[in-house]
Amino acid sequence: MVAQRDQEVRTAFSDFGGVRRGPSEEVFSSHKREMFNGLMKQLPEYHKNINGVMIRTATGKDIDRILELDHDVFAAAPYFEDDSYGGKEGIVKKYEHVLHRQNPIILVAEMDGKVVGFVWGYNLSDMHFKNAPALKEYIGKSDHPISYIDEMGTDQEYRGRGIATSLLESYKEIAETLGVPELILRTANPDAERLYNKEGYARFKNENGEEIHDEETGRPFLHLLL
Ligand SMILES: CC(C)(COP(=O)(O)OP(=O)(O)OC[C@H]1O[C@@H](n2cnc3c(N)ncnc32)[C@H](O)[C@@H]1OP(=O)(O)O)[C@@H](O)C(=O)NCCC(=O)NCCS
Repeated sequence: MVAQRDQEVRTAFSDFGGVRRGPSEEVFSSHKREMFNGLMKQLPEYHKNINGVMIRTATGKDIDRILELDHDVFAAAPYFEDDSYGGKEGIVKKYEHVLHRQNPIILVAEMDGKVVGFVWGYNLSDMHFKNAPALKEYIGKSDHPISYIDEMGTDQEYRGRGIATSLLESYKEIAETLGVPELILRTANPDAERLYNKEGYARFKNENGEEIHDEETGRPFLHLLL
């Protein structure tokens, strides 16, 4: 059984990013898989059918597909060429981190029986954003919790059908339930910014009305007060 499961993991990752590297156990051991399963059970429960798309909390069963989709979406996007994800190991590590943060939210969009979109984020602390000191300061002084929408993506074949819009709506609903009245994100994709604007997000500005950008990448931050 374990061997079969490991084989499944290997299959799921074997072509990941076109990189063939040794056995999958190196990046996703059975032990790690169990850990992911346990942590994902603690995510806030949510499911809603929005115009034929099921938006729901991710479970341990989704992890391979999420990681695959995450890779496809971001590796394929020109704006992320500079992003060093560290291959599949990097993506697994990233998810592990998000699951250990405060109030993690991971939602998937399911259509035609498969996961075609995802969004994930967590509560910010002033440990974040060394590349944006003004934002770091804002978070440190804030009297309310702030959730950071770290990544969102839709399968290329399913874009333009409102999936990301629904994911954002659901994320907002969960944040409200968790008593989190502010959402922040950073975007590198001008098209995605149009989508965020439609959902009410605006460029984040400091007290002097100046926009706050990531000083390393130049990417702007956007936020929404609920
Ligand atoms: C941005 C992204 C999540 C949008 O997903 P989606 O499910 O197609 O979004 P929706 O259908 O809800 O909304 C479509 C809106 O997204 C924007 N958009 C961005 N890229 C788009 C694309 N390739 N195709 C269609 N719309 C796109 C447009 O503003 C569009 O609104 P419009 O149709 O009124 O012009 C998706 O294109 C994606 O995964 N891109 C690569 C990863 C990325 O940039 N993620 C955001 C990082 S900050």
